[in-house]
Order: sequence, then structure tokens, then C-alpha cells
Amino acid sequence: MSRPARPSTSQVSSFELLRKAARKVPRSDAEFLLAHLLGCRRHELYSGLGVPTKTARRFHSLAAKARSGAPVQYLTHSAPFLDLDLYVDRRVMIPRPETEELVARALTRLRGPKPAAGRRLLVDFGTGSGCIAIALARSFPDSRVLAVDKSLTALAVARRNVLAYGLERRVKFIHARFLDDPVFARLNGRVDLVISNPPYVPARRLPRLPKRVRDYEPKMSLDGGPKGTNIVAMLLKHGPRLLKPRGLLAMEIDWSHGRFVRRLARSAEIEKDLSGRIRYAFLKGSAST
Ligand SMILES: C[S@@+](CC[C@H](N)C(=O)[O-])C[C@H]1O[C@@H](n2cnc3c(N)ncnc32)[C@H](O)[C@@H]1O
Repeated sequence: MSRPARPSTSQVSSFELLRKAARKVPRSDAEFLLAHLLGCRRHELYSGLGVPTKTARRFHSLAAKARSGAPVQYLTHSAPFLDLDLYVDRRVMIPRPETEELVARALTRLRGPKPAAGRRLLVDFGTGSGCIAIALARSFPDSRVLAVDKSLTALAVARRNVLAYGLERRVKFIHARFLDDPVFARLNGRVDLVISNPPYVPARRLPRLPKRVRDYEPKMSLDGGPKGTNIVAMLLKHGPRLLKPRGLLAMEIDWSHGRFVRRLARSAEIEKDLSGRIRYAFLKGSAST
């Protein structure tokens, strides 16, 4: 059995680097940074890999930035999402595990007992890094996905990720702010899934968000208006019109939005995330709102 490479004199052990850094930054951050720099998996760090001095210096510099609050995903320009590794920078929100769950739940519903026949048309409203659009395009290899955002700079990041995954023929970009924009009129009754992780934080709560979110992520990704419901309401009002009879509207919502959503769409299904908080709303195409 081969032994893991031991550090030479010009190298430091990965284990030793992590041990020291974990006193200053969360251990998960230290692991994320070092695994990124070494191009290895997290568990490999614990086999005592040799880290060249130059890489160790870079690690210390990034760890210092993480200590002052910078998210490690922006420092490395890399964020995991399901089986993807996406480019991110401060133009887009860092994809969250709760959104992975949204995609998984939407996929389960779309693949249900009577999956739709033919080529699927999917709309990702507020695409940001393109995480949802790319995950869906890969899950349904014959689908077409429209990735919508009001931020041109976010769309540039999404385009970069779509190109990296070779999906440019099936994922198209739309620069728009509302689903009743004339650009969507030709889609009425033709869409299998409208999915969105919209900005849904109530404005008064923004100053209380953790510093790494508040000071680094785009406000446009977070601020949902006075009650956090501006885009949620717009999606409930105009989303169903785009859907095929068995289509689906799937979105992430704030824990405080359950009653608001039910008031606008009586048949909406509200679901909790893995931590037990209200987080998702689903509405079927034929359902009346
Ligand atoms: C919470 S982020 C979600 C990004 C990505 N889908 C994700 O899950 O990580 C919301 C996104 O919606 C976009 N956005 C905000 N208001 C919008 C609007 N009125 N029309 C279109 N996009 C909007 C923001 O620019 C941002 O990229």
C-alpha cells in the first residue's frame, strides 16, 4: 500500500496548516481554502499532504481575508452546487444548500408518476450564477432553459458558467425584471417549470444579516422589499399564466411568507426545509390563484 506524500523540508504539512488556521477561521473555511489551493478533496488534507511554501503563503493570505469576513467562495471564485463547481464573484449570490433542496424537490415533482412528454421548457427567474438553470439543463438533457435576471453583471457570470458546462445551445439568457415583460408573452401556456430563488429578505431584516452576507453579497439578491414579498407576489401573479396545464411554479420563500403565499394562491403547497423552517412554495399549472 502506498503511503501519502510526506512534506519535504521546503514544504509544510497540510494537517499542520489546518491546525494553525482553524484557531483563527472556522475549520470548514480553512479546509475549503486549502483543498481549493491544492486541487484535492477535503479528506485528503488529513493524510498530511506536503504543501509547497508558496502555496502555504497564499493560504495564509486567503485565511486572513476570510478572518476579516470575506466569504471563501468569493476568495476562491468557486462554489459547489449539487454536482457542479461554479465560478462566483461579488456580482452574484453564493448558491446555498437550501436552493439545492429546491432543485431536488422540483425535479422530484417534474419526474412524478406522469412525467410530461416532449422537450421541456424551463424558466429560472433570478438566475444569478446560473446554478439552478445549469443543474436543470443537465438533469433534462433535451430541455431548453431560459435564465432571467435584471442584473446584466449577474448574467455575465451565469453565461461564463453555462459556457464552462457546454450548455450554451440550451440555456438562453433574458434580461428582464418582471414575468409580464412582453418578452415572455410568447411563452404563455408553454412552460413546464418556472423556478425561482428570488430576493425575499424583508428590508428591515437586511441590517441584521451576518456580516459576510450583508457586506459582500449583492443587495439585489437579498432585498425583497418591505415584507420580502415583492418578487414572490409577482411570481405568483404572472408565473401561472406561463405554465402548461401540468406545469409547476417552484420557489424559495422566507419563513414568514407562508400565509402571504396561501392568500394569493390557495392551492399552493408550502414546505419546510431540512432545518424545519418554511422555505418553499409549489403551485401547479392548472391550479387557480
Ligand atoms: C437570491 S438571488 C438567487 C441567485 C441564484 N438563482 C441562486 O439561487 O443562487 C436572486 C437573483 O434575482 C435577481 N433579481 C432580483 N430582482 C429581480 C427582478 N425583479 N427581476 C429579475 N431578476 C431579479 C438578482 O439579481 C439575483 O441574481
